[in-house]
Amino acid sequence: MTINIKKCTLEDLHTLQEISYETFNETFKDQNSPENMIAYLERAFNLNQLKIELSNLSSQFFFIYFNNDVAGYLKVNINDAQSEEMGEESLEVERIYIKKEFQKHGLGKDLLNKALEIAMERNKKKIWLGVWEKNENAIAFYKKMGFVQTGAHSFYMGDEEQTDFIMAKTLI
Ligand SMILES: CC(C)(COP(=O)(O)OP(=O)(O)OC[C@H]1O[C@@H](n2cnc3c(N)ncnc32)[C@H](O)[C@@H]1OP(=O)(O)O)[C@@H](O)C(=O)NCCC(=O)NCCS
Repeated sequence: MTINIKKCTLEDLHTLQEISYETFNETFKDQNSPENMIAYLERAFNLNQLKIELSNLSSQFFFIYFNNDVAGYLKVNINDAQSEEMGEESLEVERIYIKKEFQKHGLGKDLLNKALEIAMERNKKKIWLGVWEKNENAIAFYKKMGFVQTGAHSFYMGDEEQTDFIMAKTLI
């Protein structure tokens, strides 16, 4: 069994789109209407949008490989790429997704540790994220990893306004 984390480039665009769709569907389709899911997927993960995000120097995407399979991915943002104005001393984990079949094997922890490593290298003081209030699995995972809730913000899934908890971890 080999686990590797690799930074994505523009060459990974199509694989990134596939895993983005697949993991978002697996995670949220049971709790959201098909219309809202389609609206979100088309807006967030169209090729043009992903290309812009992959080209942004303040964002980085990583794939985690389990043997030769892409098992999950991570997106981190700094500076203006953060989805809230958290300032230059923060790093945002915007997306962290492990495909269902690979969950609960430590891969999520490996990706979160990658985000922490990047934050430390860049002398950030805080790592933060937004998580849907109904995503109990992810909230439990983040708590296990030392994150605490510090606030909340609105998030649009299609035309439905939802609440994301903001969770953060202070770095020493
Ligand atoms: C949340 C997610 C990234 C966690 O990844 P994972 O690979 O399943 O988790 P890991 O196996 O790395 O778990 C790391 C630790 O968290 C704990 N943990 C994971 N899920 C947990 C849960 N639901 N409840 C309690 N603890 C949990 C594990 O027991 C493990 O603890 P340990 O270090 O003591 O062994 C993954 O489940 C996922 O991709 N979910 C769907 C997508 C999603 O919701 N993403 C977040 C959007 S904000």
